[in-house]
Formats: sequence, structure tokens, C-alpha cells
Amino acid sequence: MMPAERILHEAIQVAPLGLTDDVKRQKIENSLVQMRLSAATARKIQDIFRSEMNKGIHQQPSSLQMENTYIPELPNGTEEGLFLALDLGGTNFRVLLIELVNGVIVREDVKKYHIDAHLRTGSGIPLFEYLAECVSNFVISEGLQDVELPLGFTFSFPMIQHSLETGILLTWTKSFNCPDVVNKDAVKLLKDALARRADTRVKVVAVLNDTTGTLLQGATQDPNTAIGLILGTGSNACYLERADKVEHWEPERHGEREVIIDIEWGAFGDNGVLDFIKTDFDRENDANSLLVKSFTFEKYISGKYLGEVVRIILVKLLKDGLLFTRETPKKLLTVGSFLTDYVSLIEQDTVDGGGSNTKEVLAKFDIVPDEEDLKIVQYVCEVASNRAALLVSICLATLLDHMEREEVTIAVDGSLYKHHPRFESWMNQYISLLSPARKFKLIQTQDGSGKGAAIVAAIALKLKQRLE
Ligand code: BGC
Repeated sequence: MMPAERILHEAIQVAPLGLTDDVKRQKIENSLVQMRLSAATARKIQDIFRSEMNKGIHQQPSSLQMENTYIPELPNGTEEGLFLALDLGGTNFRVLLIELVNGVIVREDVKKYHIDAHLRTGSGIPLFEYLAECVSNFVISEGLQDVELPLGFTFSFPMIQHSLETGILLTWTKSFNCPDVVNKDAVKLLKDALARRADTRVKVVAVLNDTTGTLLQGATQDPNTAIGLILGTGSNACYLERADKVEHWEPERHGEREVIIDIEWGAFGDNGVLDFIKTDFDRENDANSLLVKSFTFEKYISGKYLGEVVRIILVKLLKDGLLFTRETPKKLLTVGSFLTDYVSLIEQDTVDGGGSNTKEVLAKFDIVPDEEDLKIVQYVCEVASNRAALLVSICLATLLDHMEREEVTIAVDGSLYKHHPRFESWMNQYISLLSPARKFKLIQTQDGSGKGAAIVAAIALKLKQRLE
């Protein structure tokens, strides 16, 4: 092994499971061996990601969509006006009123609306009717029903964009599945629902993804920002690409030098290119999910699934008689019961060398662990988290190499990144080792999907004015 590969190999190891019973330790480590990626596997994934990115950008079949967002510039401090921003992606829908003066937010009113499961998984029309109702409710409560309000719509799902104002939904992800609106334009669905109500003067001017909002919001904090990353319920990244490298332009390109590309890396591997790392745990996780056989990569790394991967492993160890031998914890058998936030809490114990969070989490499942159980649960959380952080780092390192910029700041948002105690440090370490020639920085952004939507709406108006 070359020295650089040896360093990488050593860095991606997790601490050995500290059990006194050697046979048991060996059995548990063997059960998890496929979850542990070697340096050679990391390099192989890097090559595959690079190739999928290149195919996607050249409009060839690929599991990476590499979608043109039609956002050709970053905020430059001239953004002005009063904007509405919508954020749809999680179980809460948010409506924001944002006032920008010289690119700075001087007013921000926000209201959250819960979206019931029957709206998230039924027909799409009632869902968009409900979104329009929330918008009206909010605008009227602000007394702005007679004011023409430009709106930026953060729609955090894969979509095909023909312009800044169209977003054809390709597939739902996360906890949404309203099949009748797949292949329909989310902007038109929203506009039509607002028009049917006819009680406000809201004008949808742009649609965007939450990663894009995060990149733009990051750019207001650090001008080197050129990647937006979400590590939350779902996961995805976008980046600033040279416009001449992008083949999909509708209508044709007019003078843009750069443009933001939405990678949609949640779908990485949907064509089978990542099958060689798929474990039985991943297969079960997929089978238990709302949208089976889609979003392969997201199911390895994101907050919607990491807890479930851990749960599936714990249940396997339990069934093999290696864990919780004193009782049968029925609650743990429920799909989706082990939240990713629990994984973050347990990982905090590993960092601190304690066990109180682990005990608290297990108490929710009526489990009173012994010392060995604690160590095993912590080990499983570490292995699953570490694999996720490594996979994300592999893609980011490859992206940095592809971008060939002097220095890149990566703006990050999302509950997994923010709540997990080790993601940031693992990512800093792994990206540096996987892409040693590149200078990068990870920064946290606050609410890129809300604020970024207002910024995009402001940019959309500037672009329109320039064309007039
Ligand atoms: C969606 C992306 C989104 C990501 C983070 C994924 O499931 O496909 O569009 O950016 O979640 O919210």
C-alpha cells in the first residue's frame, strides 16, 4: 500500500469493539464487516462518482441528474425588495416574508404549517391546494393581499428545469409520495392552486432546490462559497459550474459564465453502479422505505435512514443472540422507531466516553442495557455513521477535484450534520485525505431553503430587468 493510501486506510477505521469476550466480539465485527469500507473501495467509489458526474453533465445515461438550475450568479449585495419564500421538503411547510435591502435581510416573518401524512402520500392536487391555502393565510395575516409579491419556491425534490420558473417533478423522495403529480410542473401546480383562490397577488418567479438556497445563503457569508450541501432528512449537493461545460440550456445560453448545477446525488447508484457496497442491512432498509428501489445513496447517508440502518443491525444482532440477551425489546422491532437523532445522541457518548445518552435512548425502547450492550450499540452507531460520513466525503472530494478552483467553501445545512457530533470532523479529515491538492472549508448556514428562496427571487427579478 502506498503511504497516502495507508494513511487514508488508517483514518477511516473505527475503534475496535472493546468486549472481553473475544468470540462474541469477533462475531459482531464479522456481522458488520461489509459496512466498513476500505481505502481501495473509497477510491473506486470516487472513480464511479467522477464518471457518473461526467456522464450526467454530458446528458448521457447516469444516476446523477446534474440539473441546470438556471441560476447564473451569486448574490452581490444589490438584492432589494419584499419577497415571499416557500420551503417544501420536510413534514413542515414554511412560508416566509423577507425584506432585502442591499442584499441584507432587514425583515423576516416565518410561519410553519404541518403537512399531514394523508396530504404527503395521497393525490397531489389537495397537497398543492393546501400549500396555496397556507400562502393565502400567511399573506392575509400580514395584510399584504393587495401587494404584488414575488415568490421564490424551494421545492426540495428532483426536478427537470426548463427555466428558472419551471420544475417538472421527476420523483418524490423522503416522506412524500403523491404519484399523480410526478412529471408535472410543481410551479404550475402552485400557480394554478393560487389562481383558483384568487385572494392574493402572489407571483411565483423562481423555483429552486434547498441545496441551491444553501449555496446562495452561504455566499452571503463567504464569497468563496461554491458548493451547497444538505445533510438532513434527505441529502444532496449543488455546485457552481462553468457554463460552457453544461450542455442542457433552454433556450440557448446567453452569455452566462457560470451556473449552479443540482447534482441530485441521493439517486447515485440507482442504476446499480454502487451495488458492490450494498449490504443486507441496506436491502432491508430499502424494502422498508416509502419509495423502494430509488434513492440508493440517500438511503446510505441521510437522516431519514441512518437510524433505520442502525435499528436493522441491532435487530440482527439481537436475533443472533449477541445483544440484549436479558429481554426481548419489542419496540425496537418497529420499522422507523430508531431516529437518527438517537444515533447522534449515542455518538456523543462515544465522544465523551460515557453512556448516559445511550441508556436514555434505550430506555425509550424499554431496554435496560448491561455494559456490553452499551458498547455494542455505540459501536453500531459509530460504524453506520462513519460509513455515511465517508461516503459524503468521497463525493465532495471528487467534486472539488472536478471544479478545479483555488479555494472552495462548502455551505452546509441539515439536521444530521448539525446534530451529529462527529460528521464535521470526519468530513474535514476524509476530504483532505481524498483530495489533498484542494483547499476547502466547511461552513454552516442557517435556513438556506428559506432565505435562499428570497435571494433567488431577487436574482430572478434582476435577470428579467436586464433582458427588458
Ligand atoms: C431531494 C433533493 C434535496 C435533498 C435534501 C432529496 O431527497 O431529492 O432534491 O435537495 O433531499 O433535502
